Amino acid sequence: MNKEILKSIAEAMMQTPKGLLAMDESSPTCAKRFAALSIPETEENRIRYRELIISTPNLSNYISGAILFDETFHQKMSTGVLFRDHLKEIGVLPGIKVDAGAKDFSNHPNEKITEGLDGLRERLVKYESLGAKFCKWRAVITIGESIPSDSCISSNCNALARYASLCQENNLVPIVEPEVLINGKHSIEECDKITRSTLKCLFDELKLINIYFPGVILKPSMVISGDKNSNRANFDRVAEMTVKCLKDMCPKDLGGVAFLSGGQTNDEATNHLKIMNSGIHDLPWRVTFSYARAIQQSALNAWSGKDENYEKAQTILAERAKLCSEASVGNN
Ligand code: 13P
Repeated sequence: MNKEILKSIAEAMMQTPKGLLAMDESSPTCAKRFAALSIPETEENRIRYRELIISTPNLSNYISGAILFDETFHQKMSTGVLFRDHLKEIGVLPGIKVDAGAKDFSNHPNEKITEGLDGLRERLVKYESLGAKFCKWRAVITIGESIPSDSCISSNCNALARYASLCQENNLVPIVEPEVLINGKHSIEECDKITRSTLKCLFDELKLINIYFPGVILKPSMVISGDKNSNRANFDRVAEMTVKCLKDMCPKDLGGVAFLSGGQTNDEATNHLKIMNSGIHDLPWRVTFSYARAIQQSALNAWSGKDENYEKAQTILAERAKLCSEASVGNN
């Protein structure tokens, strides 16, 4: 582990006024998004769509790093250039999702455990040698009746810590993503409580395994009411409770924070981020975005698999990325 390398990658990922673009949907998730728009689920269409994203003009004004799925990391664009090489050329750091997905957690109905530690060291050595600078691992915590269990939180956080340690051994910055799902009727207070227990457990595990915090990026969900709650908290309250939760639970020397959008609307995702960065909250780290849906979804809808919509979709994608970038410095 080289701390200087890790710190400088984390700083480059967190550079103002940029954020991260999550374009690492697994093939089944990508298939779901395509199916909703009747786009045939083929490798060729995944390449066309991802090429549309990363060849969007001026993308690197707003995006510091892009998280790729393994398939994309090894694929070439229609120009014959590898996706990862194109990212390097335009000044966007290539990153890679390395977990093997959230699977049913044995003897824990309705809960998930993220897999992918077996053989991870060897995969990381390979990714680093091919130019990856950072990695992502997503754990899923579900709020429901009598869940999450302590064992779901601790098993997932332990896996996140073991993943993060392997990343740092290989000079790759780990993005640690403990997503508390928005799905459900729960209140913002319940979300706050679960997010706090999850972050407490996560940072205990990371400390125990000697993680170098300036070389880690936290990718949290916001503290927010469930999507089916009938009295959802407003933008100011979400921003205030999220900032308070993070300040209470995260170490001050963390490399940075980059939120997931987690099913929030585009407006919610940008407004919450903008208020957090508006200057009323004193933040010890940079707080930016690592959105997938809140950057991509409207562009995907506009494209719908048709060449004639290509430029329109890129214009929409650039606009969303610009709005997120502005929100990350408190404007728009
Ligand atoms: P969303 O922004 O769509 O939640 O995706 C972020 C992500 O990378 C989930 O792992």
